[in-house]
Amino acid sequence: MKFSLSYTVLLHTLAFPIASGQTFQTGPFALKLSTANDSTLNNQYLYACHSGAAIEALCVASNITSPGDLGVSGRFYLNHTAETSTSGSITWNLPVGGNNGTTINTSEPLVFQFNPASNVAVLQFVPGDSQPPLLGFSGDNLYASAPYDDSGFKPGVRPNTTSTALQLQQWHACWSLVGSGYYYRVLAWVSAGAPRNPTCVPVTVSKENLQAVF
Ligand SMILES: *[C@@H]1O[C@H](CO)[C@@H](O)[C@H](O)[C@H]1NC(C)=O
Ligand SMILES: *[C@@H]1O[C@H](CO)[C@@H](O)[C@H](O)[C@H]1NC(C)=O
Ligand SMILES: *[C@@H]1O[C@H](CO)[C@@H](O)[C@H](O)[C@H]1NC(C)=O
Ligand SMILES: *[C@@H]1O[C@H](CO)[C@@H](O)[C@H](O)[C@H]1NC(C)=O
Ligand SMILES: *[C@@H]1O[C@H](CO)[C@@H](O)[C@H](O)[C@H]1NC(C)=O
Ligand SMILES: *[C@@H]1O[C@H](CO)[C@@H](O)[C@H](O)[C@H]1NC(C)=O
Repeated sequence: MKFSLSYTVLLHTLAFPIASGQTFQTGPFALKLSTANDSTLNNQYLYACHSGAAIEALCVASNITSPGDLGVSGRFYLNHTAETSTSGSITWNLPVGGNNGTTINTSEPLVFQFNPASNVAVLQFVPGDSQPPLLGFSGDNLYASAPYDDSGFKPGVRPNTTSTALQLQQWHACWSLVGSGYYYRVLAWVSAGAPRNPTCVPVTVSKENLQAVF
């Protein structure tokens, strides 16, 4: 399998504000899938795949045994506000070519892209989102933080908001349309219930430290 690493974009299209306030960064790490539901997905890695101008989905790589084979497309970071925190935003460095032949990194956060017709949201790295979702690791496993579960709400009865945030792992690998019309097998999130998209397979996403590899 060949990986298209064509992220070339014009520098002047990247004039967007970068999220601030996240001082700490840990990584790089690879993101690896495990699942009992599909042997072709088990132990496969995710990589940033071009899905539009300066946006990338998280595609499932096939038959990659060493995450180093994915190069920069398989290297991810966690940005966080407190030194010891294990949650924050997942980021990826978009390599952008300058006019003088140099490459500069543009850090992009991972965000959910919801489709109003489905309960399946795809994950994409996008430039300039200053309010990315809170993601984190429980052990090595990736979760999304949710402030509350609304399934028990009652009319006119304000629910308690003091309960601790939920750490959910509703990750799936799905064939989906992403960005400007690409059809890829990508990391997705099923907000509740069974996935509306019948190609979705439940997966666990875990990080694998890359410091020893590079
Ligand atoms: C992530 O953290 C690094 C290091 O502090 C910073 O350079 C980068 O801009 C941050 N990325 C985002 C999307 O905030
Ligand atoms: C995935 O596999 C587990 C364990 O075999 C099984 O309990 C579950 O029903 C399967 N889920 C789907 C969506 O196939
Ligand atoms: C992955 O490897 C297996 C075994 O060598 C092969 O049958 C399969 O076609 C490969 N898949 C891809 C997408 O290259
Ligand atoms: C750019 O990002 C890559 C990872 O994607 C990293 O290995 C490299 O050191 C970064 N370069 C600079 C100059 O920060
Ligand atoms: C090369 O271009 C980049 C991006 O325009 C710029 O940040 C950098 O300072 C330039 N380097 C030199 C040596 O001119
Ligand atoms: C909120 O929590 C308090 C104390 O645990 C409990 O008495 C009360 O019933 C809860 N209210 C709701 C709406 O769940």
